[in-house]
Order: sequence, then C-alpha cells, then structure tokens
Amino acid sequence: MVLFIPEEKIIEIKNTADIIDIISESVLLKKSGRNHLGLCPFHSEKTPSFTVSYEKQVFYCFGCGAGGNIFVYLMRKEGFTFPEAVKYVAEKYGIDITVEKTSPGKINKISEKDNILLINKQAMDFFKGCLFSGGSGNRALSYLTKRKITEKIIRDYQLGFAPDSWNVLINFFTKQNVSTSLIEKAGLIIRKNKSEGFYDRFRNRIIFPIFDMNSKVIGFGGRVMDDSLPKYLNSPETIVFNKSQSLYGLNIAKNDCRISETVFIVEGYFDLLSLHKNGIKNSVATLGTSISSEHVKILRSIIGKDGKFILVYDSDEAGIKAAQRSIEIFDKGFADARILVLPAGYDPDSYLIEFGLEAFKNAVSCAQSTVSFLMDSAIINYGLSVEGKIRIISELVKILSSIGDKVARALYVRELSEKIYIDEAALHERIMEALSDIKQGKFINKSDPDPVSNKNNVKGYELGNTMQEEQQKRSRLERQIIAMMLQFPEMVPEIIKRDLLNGFTDDVLKSIGYAIIEHINLSETNSENIMPLFDGDDVKNSIVAFLSIKDEAWDRKSCLRLITQFEFIYKRNKDTSTNKIKEAEETKDDKLLLELLREKQIQAANKKTSRLKALGGKTLW
Ligand code: GTP
Ligand code: MN
Repeated sequence: MVLFIPEEKIIEIKNTADIIDIISESVLLKKSGRNHLGLCPFHSEKTPSFTVSYEKQVFYCFGCGAGGNIFVYLMRKEGFTFPEAVKYVAEKYGIDITVEKTSPGKINKISEKDNILLINKQAMDFFKGCLFSGGSGNRALSYLTKRKITEKIIRDYQLGFAPDSWNVLINFFTKQNVSTSLIEKAGLIIRKNKSEGFYDRFRNRIIFPIFDMNSKVIGFGGRVMDDSLPKYLNSPETIVFNKSQSLYGLNIAKNDCRISETVFIVEGYFDLLSLHKNGIKNSVATLGTSISSEHVKILRSIIGKDGKFILVYDSDEAGIKAAQRSIEIFDKGFADARILVLPAGYDPDSYLIEFGLEAFKNAVSCAQSTVSFLMDSAIINYGLSVEGKIRIISELVKILSSIGDKVARALYVRELSEKIYIDEAALHERIMEALSDIKQGKFINKSDPDPVSNKNNVKGYELGNTMQEEQQKRSRLERQIIAMMLQFPEMVPEIIKRDLLNGFTDDVLKSIGYAIIEHINLSETNSENIMPLFDGDDVKNSIVAFLSIKDEAWDRKSCLRLITQFEFIYKRNKDTSTNKIKEAEETKDDKLLLELLREKQIQAANKKTSRLKALGGKTLW
C-alpha cells in the first residue's frame, strides 16, 4: 500500500503529464480553437460541450458542470482515490514514486481518510471474491438469484459476500501488515470484549458496498440470508461514512438524475436494485435513516433547483412521517416533492416483482405532492365532521402558511377548500392570520432552516430585493477575483496584501481563494501549478475548472480596477447594514431593527442560494 507521495513528486507528475493524452484514452477529442472538445463522459449528450484546455491542463463540461484537473478526471472516470490517480499517471509517464520513508519535510502524508478508503476498497474486492469463489459463496449467489438480482446488477453494484467466519477479513488484512487500528477505524472489525484482539463485523451476510459520489467505498451494508436478526447490519459512522450525507446508489444514479432532473428515493437496498434493474436508474436509497436536509442539498445540486423528488414509501404511516418532515427539509414546499405510497404490504421491490414496471409507472404518475398527500391523510384521520374539519384546518394552516410561493399557496388553499367543503375565503383568512403572526416575529426562531422561503410573506422582502441585487453583484465580483487569481497569478500577492478574501461573502469561493494562496507558496507562482485540487469535492473542482478555462485578457490595470471595485462595495455594504442596525438599536426602533435583522438573514440565505445554484451542474453561474 502506498502511504506517502511527496508533494514535489505530485507537482512533477502534474507538470509532466498531459491531460489531453489521458482524456484521449477514453474520450474522442477534437481540436477547436484553443481547446479540445468531445462528448462528455459524465453525462449523455449529442453535441460536445466537454472542453479540455491544454494550456491550463483542465477539463470542464459546459453541459453538466463536471470539471477539474487530470487527477480529478481519473478519480471521477475510473473511481480512483487520489493516490491511485497519481500512481496511474506516474506509471504512464515512467515517473518513479517509490517512497523513501525518511524523506523529511515536505512529505504529503496520505491522510487517515485515504487509508480508510483504500482499506474499504480492498475489503470490497475481498467480499466480491468470496461471492464468486464457490463454497459458501454459492449459497449467497443463489440467495441473490432467488431475490431476482441479475449478474449485471451484482457487477454494477459490486455486491459481495462475507463468509461465515470470525476472522477471514482480519487475517486478509493482517497478512498485508495493515494495522488493526486502521481496520477498526474503517468499521470492519470489532474489538473483543473480554479478551485481546478483534473479530470481523460482517459475517455470513450479503454485502452491499456503499459508495460516495465519486464511487469511493465509504461503508458497507450486510444482509442475512435467512430470518435471523438483525436483518441488516451497516458499517458504523466513520470519518468517511456519514449516513445522513450518504445515499445508496447515488454514484451510479447521478447522471440519470441530472438528465431527467428527477430522483426517486426509496428505503431499501433491494428496492434500489429492483428499480435499477427495471431501468429506473435515477433512484437512490437512504441508509436506514429518514431523508435529511443534507440529502436534499446533495440531490438538489444534481437535479437542479426545479428538479423533482419522488419519495416512495411502503406504508401510510411511513409516508405521512416522511411527508411531514419533507415540508421542513424541502425548503418549506419550495421543492417539487411528490410522495408515492404503495399498497399495504408492498415495497418497491416486491411491487415491481409482482405487478411489473408499467403498474409501477402508473402508480408514479399518480404520486401526489407532499402537501396534497398530507391533506388527504388528515381527512382520512379526522373525517369530515365539524370537529374533524376544525382539526384538519388547524393542522393544514400551519403547513400552508409556511409555503412561501404565493401562487402555490393559493392553489393549495383552493384544493383544501374543495376537499373539505369550506369556503376558500375563510381559509385564506386563517392563513393570513398565521402569516401576520409570522410577520410580527412570533414564529421567528433560530431554527428556521431557510428564511428565503418566507420571502413572499415577510415584510423584509421588498427591502431584500435590492439586497439581493447587491449580493449578486458581490458574488459576481468574487468570482471574477478568483478567476483573476487563477489566470493572472501575479496579482495574488496584492490580494493577500489587501486581505481581500476576508471580505468574501461566498464561503465556497473564499475557501477556494485561500487554497490558491496556500498552493501558490508551494509552487512559487508557476502559473501551471496554482490550480488547487479538492479531493472529493466535485463542486469546488468544477468551480476552479470553470473559472480557469474561461479565457479573459488580464492586465495589471484592469485587475487593480476590479480589486478597487470590490473594496468599494465591501466597504459600502459594511457601512450600511452594520451601522443601520446599530442605529436602530440605539433609537430603540424595534420595528426597523427587526426588518434589518431579517434583511441580514435574507442576505445570508441568498448566499446559501447562490451556493446551491453553483452546485447545480447546468446552471453553474
Ligand atoms: P428486504 O427484506 O431484504 O427486502 O429488505 P428491505 O429493504 O425491504 O427491508 P426493510 O423495508 O425492512 O428496510 C429498509 C431499509 O432499512 C433497509 O434496506 C436497511 O437500510 C434498513 N434496515 C432494515 N432493517 C434493518 C436492521 O435490522 N438494521 C439496520 N441497521 N438497518 C435496517
Ligand atoms: Mn424488500
């Protein structure tokens, strides 16, 4: 196992290698102007928008937003870890990366994280081997066949089998001198209670490797093949595995999600495999947890801000819970979230097996918006007696008033009024009351996940509009400054001197800026080396690629103008918002103070929205 690659080596490899060579191994590139163009390997397209720059040694797809340097390309295309990508390029160009253990100073220690990812990948390969090496693996294979899992699915999802043993995996690793502490940190072995030593976590189970977006193995799920308990066993949370940020199948689903702008979310491993087998490839599964706001953020960055979520649940009870939660996590109704509850006793897998794809598609076409679903559930729960209606209204008013989009809200109000035979105007009135409570700050609390969702129903919004423009202007300037740093690095010392990054409002751009500064010291302003690499952070890599591939003619004078402009706006903004708040506090003008604070909140939220936008492949800017 390679443990150290000195930083100088990485730079040497990067300087020797040619991204056009490497990408040409898998994509047909044609010269077009200063760049090369081809069909993007990360999403399906008919006209080429995948651009590779020889000069800048970076790729960027104007169709899906994938982008980065040579290592990012290999990590995404081949599912390599960073060290694997470096090794691959080094070997291709005959650069020796054998490591002298004693080399002091500038050694780039592969982080514990990378080591755990490597161990996970080796464990996955080990489990895969066990599935296909006869013996007890055959039992596992026949279980999978019984569950109608095809060989293609087994290969695509790299399913495996953990033999019925307390120590095969631990022996496999210790033979290679991997430390038990590291295997334990990967979650693959468990420390014995009473005696010394460890035992394997996964025994006699079908193994589902869990991948991150870049197809790195971050954990495992294991299912028994009979009725014993627990039915499923998952890896514990580790430094590479966080359940509320991970989705099973996302690495495979992401391109289809991007293209269809839709994602199906199911609950089980087998459900996911079943959907995939039936050609519904834009689907993912949560890992035994309910869907989290992190999940939504990640998925939104793929399907875009107008993308559709379809939650598939196997019971009313689970569905209602999920729908209620979704109102909170899907930005209070802003997202197009639909819910599909299957008939009692069926989950997506068993439903597809019994009724087939057409029936499933029909059910999907009847999937309701989460709000309509909650209305129906409340009606079923409380009935249409006077008492019942009162309870329905009080439950639904809460939900409806939190929907910021006035048009959507009005439509839902009409729907409810028709469903429970109540005058629409009366319902409106109730909602207006609730909204005025919000306006008066009665409902404002810190846990409000996204103030921007309330933008149409709070007074601050009109004020916020100009703030929004101001914010957009600042973001634009911030992007230009980063582009300048990347394309005209001689300005970087000036940026450092004026501490410009400190004034950035966009955290992502800010961290990119600091990474460039950090990088530039290492490579002594050799412009080819100032592109930082963010391991495993597609969004940042894509932003950096986009900002460096754009051709702009820079000269010192125009750069200084840009810097001055930024400083001017920064100063003006600081003056206005902070001072106004101070003034309102001093004059005890609570109304104004509330408005200003709200405004500030909106500004913070806009920052978030612009970041979300930056995450969306297609609409990077
Ligand atoms: P099959 O019975 O194999 O079809 O699985 P399923 O996915 O239909 O099972 P179920 O609906 O019971 O569970 C849905 C998901 O919840 C699973 O895929 C697991 O991620 C998780 N889960 C279910 N049972 C357990 C358990 O015993 N332990 C843990 N940790 N997770 C579980
Ligand atoms: Mn099932």
